[in-house]
Amino acid sequence: MENDDTQRQHLLVPRPDNELPEPDDLAHIFNEVGTQRLILRRLRVSDGPAMFAVHGDPATNRYNPAGPHPDLATSEEMLRQCRQHWQVYGFGYWAVALPQEENIIGFGGVEHLVWRHRDVLNLYYRFTPSAWGKGYATELARTAMALARGHLPPWPVIARTRVENIASIRTAERTGLLRRSDLDTEHVVFALGWASLDDH
Ligand SMILES: CC(C)(COP(=O)(O)OP(=O)(O)OC[C@H]1O[C@@H](n2cnc3c(N)ncnc32)[C@H](O)[C@@H]1OP(=O)(O)O)[C@@H](O)C(=O)NCCC(=O)NCCS
Repeated sequence: MENDDTQRQHLLVPRPDNELPEPDDLAHIFNEVGTQRLILRRLRVSDGPAMFAVHGDPATNRYNPAGPHPDLATSEEMLRQCRQHWQVYGFGYWAVALPQEENIIGFGGVEHLVWRHRDVLNLYYRFTPSAWGKGYATELARTAMALARGHLPPWPVIARTRVENIASIRTAERTGLLRRSDLDTEHVVFALGWASLDDH
């Protein structure tokens, strides 16, 4: 989500091996997923221009203080890091397309992240404006949640956004995440599976 993933301020952390299935086993499940209306697929090295088309668009970064990606190289770097996550873990953010269409309409899914000293899954979604308002982000996010719950460790899932970003907030809510104002930073935080008693 906003969570400045577009700027990828978090670094890839060591894979917590003892909890996770092998990357190859997860890749079989996550590499390409068909939902009711969408194709969710692993990122390819050639996805840089599509990533820039979505992340370099001011409209998709209206609530992101860091702003849109300034150039293709920034998107290529984000792509490199996302693909590295795929390589290490066997899952990660997908490119989203409609069946039988070449164009990528968005990006999103879950990535592992250490946040507040815990292993978590970070839920992310960003679509090109012409694809907004059709339920696609909710469809992606629900699929990511279901696969995470079925195949990944029971890490909390978090979504961080800006208080003004109503579409993003509604998507998190429709995905079943709960508003956790006790976890807020400069973002408003939604989470599922984060126990209250031992919050950091
Ligand atoms: C956030 C985003 C991914 C939502 O994608 P989407 O496919 O349009 O979302 P959905 O169609 O699944 O709608 C999800 C909910 O948001 C609501 N919503 C969608 N666009 C909205 C808007 N412009 N204003 C208010 N609510 C909106 C929908 O009505 C729905 O809620 P509802 O069930 O209560 O009606 C999309 O707006 C986007 O890419 N925005 C730019 C990038 C971004 O901000 N990403 C999140 C970073 S934190």
